[in-house]
Amino acid sequence: MTTLPELPCFLNGEYTTLPNARISVMDRGFIFGDGVYEVVPVYGGRLFRFAEHMARLERSLRECRIRNPHDRSGWAAIASELVRRYARSEGVPETGSDQLIYLQITRGVAMRDHAMPVGIEPTVFMMTNALKSPGPEQRAQGVACVTADEFRWEKAHIKSTSLLGAVFARQISVDAGAAETVMFRHGFLGEAASSNVWVVKDGAVAGPPKDNLVLEGIRFGLMDELCRSLGIPFVLRRISRAEVFDADELLLTSATKEVLPVTRLDGRPVGTGRPGPVYARVYEAYQNAKAAA
Ligand code: PDD
Repeated sequence: MTTLPELPCFLNGEYTTLPNARISVMDRGFIFGDGVYEVVPVYGGRLFRFAEHMARLERSLRECRIRNPHDRSGWAAIASELVRRYARSEGVPETGSDQLIYLQITRGVAMRDHAMPVGIEPTVFMMTNALKSPGPEQRAQGVACVTADEFRWEKAHIKSTSLLGAVFARQISVDAGAAETVMFRHGFLGEAASSNVWVVKDGAVAGPPKDNLVLEGIRFGLMDELCRSLGIPFVLRRISRAEVFDADELLLTSATKEVLPVTRLDGRPVGTGRPGPVYARVYEAYQNAKAAA
């Protein structure tokens, strides 16, 4: 078994470390992938867009009919304590620490039965580790992506820990030596394995509608805000496969990628084949938003 690092984590009311954290084999997260999660970036020791993550967590829990075991201030207190513990364990000042909080809630522990058991306690887990953002080369060159037809379920708006579809989707790009797999449902742009996808054409940014077919990344709202502040037209609508291949620029967003340019798609150059001007402006505005948060 891989030896886990001695990183701080929180499990069911207690702070511990990854090698010491234990859950039941009958946890429905383990048996069914029956749970939800969030991934929250931390910049300079501060949680980024935490309220938005909490709002999405509440939506995911409601859809799954899992009780929310903490209110927002309870979640914030646990996350802040982990951020402090991590900075201390790494010997860095809290304010100099960029981290990635992962939190997961499963339905809890019960004997195996597909039906949702009533009256069980949700399992709560949270950990943090170093935030690894794309390196300077990826930012300068952009990344390559491949495309695939969507094969996941139609409740992609739930941030569920049932991620086998995402694992399969991501592996398509790993096998092709690419950074992400951009998926299409019935010929229209959906999302990538673990990122949202944006099309830039004639200076305007477009993304797919917020519906049950994509996860509404926290960067949906952020892209809208950043584009608005930069005077860049921003629209959510159905986007055909042809439009994606005809884009001037393609962008990926996620908690870890922030905003990242895609410069090759299925081996063909996107636009000029270089990161474009809209990317540069949005990326700079993103960095300013981080600094101001
Ligand atoms: N993934 N779509 C999917 C399917 C995702 O898994 C993610 C994020 C996103 C982007 O969401 P956000 O902007 O809130 O990070 C879109 C996270 C980072 C993960 O699973 O690790």
